[in-house]
Amino acid sequence: MNAEAEAQRPTSVGVPRESGEDERRVALVPKVVEKLVGRGVQVVVEAGAGLGALIPDELYTAAGASIGDPWDSEVVVKVAPPSAEEIGRLRRGATMIGFLAPLTAPETIVALRSAGVQAFAMESIPRISRAQSMDALSSQANVAGYKAVLLAADRSTRFFPMLTTAAGTVKPATALVLGVGVAGLQALATAKRLGARTTGYDVRPEVADQVRSLGAQWLDLGIDAAGEGGYARELTDDERAEQQKRLEEAITGFDVVITTALVPGRKAPTLVTAEAVRGMRPGSVVVDLAGEAGGNCELTEPGEIVVKHDVTIASPLNLPATMPEHASELYARNVSALLELMLDEDGALAPNFDDEVLAKSCVTREGKDA
Ligand code: NAI
Repeated sequence: MNAEAEAQRPTSVGVPRESGEDERRVALVPKVVEKLVGRGVQVVVEAGAGLGALIPDELYTAAGASIGDPWDSEVVVKVAPPSAEEIGRLRRGATMIGFLAPLTAPETIVALRSAGVQAFAMESIPRISRAQSMDALSSQANVAGYKAVLLAADRSTRFFPMLTTAAGTVKPATALVLGVGVAGLQALATAKRLGARTTGYDVRPEVADQVRSLGAQWLDLGIDAAGEGGYARELTDDERAEQQKRLEEAITGFDVVITTALVPGRKAPTLVTAEAVRGMRPGSVVVDLAGEAGGNCELTEPGEIVVKHDVTIASPLNLPATMPEHASELYARNVSALLELMLDEDGALAPNFDDEVLAKSCVTREGKDA
């Protein structure tokens, strides 16, 4: 095909069926497909790609997609990082968009680079106002924060709300959220709606007002570890020891502790020691959302629900995949917002790397490091 004909061809976007165990999300949903097709894009969906999220192939075809081999497309959009086998199916010169774990699984980026693929990692999109519609870390963290509270309520031996009944009055549960980023704020809001008395803690003091605005108390331990790009930095050894000691004292008073503390690319900080768990009332629950990065609780077994000292410690992995419908819907909007930023007015792929969002999210380009 000559260069002119190549330029006039609509951009093809492939949507594979996710291969990971328990991954029920899909990268594009029919509503979003319809919008992209309206922009002149050709969408190819793998048969059954939406089944985990209960979206049949017919809804994709009704939205203007075709069912076929997604791996031969110019752009391939995924949720989870591609396996080595999947990378092998990409065309040289293709573009891949998805969660690619650039900080924790650099081997995926190396393999994409060797395959001559240009890749954009959803994790690397800068947290700036203009890119909020593309912020998949936030959209999925909202799902995780919400679901963590439901899990805690389900495992708790006590009510969350205060109940006044003919048989007497039950006091409301007390819930502490450690790490109040996006997931933590959603957890505080959800626990409050269920009637718990809520408290939030973070090493970034600027979130205190956000915590209070959700009707929660702010636990002040006097440690300020605000880092770059709105993220927390790792604590020094002295700060860590002081934090653990003060948290040990505070945690024992709570019925529910939800932890979400992460430092990008590092092992998750230990915030709930074994001693703190020992001090909690029997029947209490810890839900540790940092399991993928090793966990925030010393007794966490990532992916498992264990009972230690009569306290349930749950460390669910990939909670967003357990709510595949809304998680996919939000993720698809994030992905298409990023993709649309790369399309010119004719719907052809033309990423402008002077744009900070594309420059930062591109993790490998034309066989080179981005
Ligand atoms: P994250 O998932 O990286 O970490 C969760 C929370 O853990 C953070 O609040 C962090 O400060 C806290 N943390 C880390 N180490 C800790 C420790 N030792 N003890 C206690 N807490 C600890 O954070 P997330 O949710 O991804 O948010 C990161 C930043 O991005 C935040 O500042 C958030 O407000 C900001 N953001 C900005 C957006 C924007 O457009 N402008 C959109 C979404 C988030």
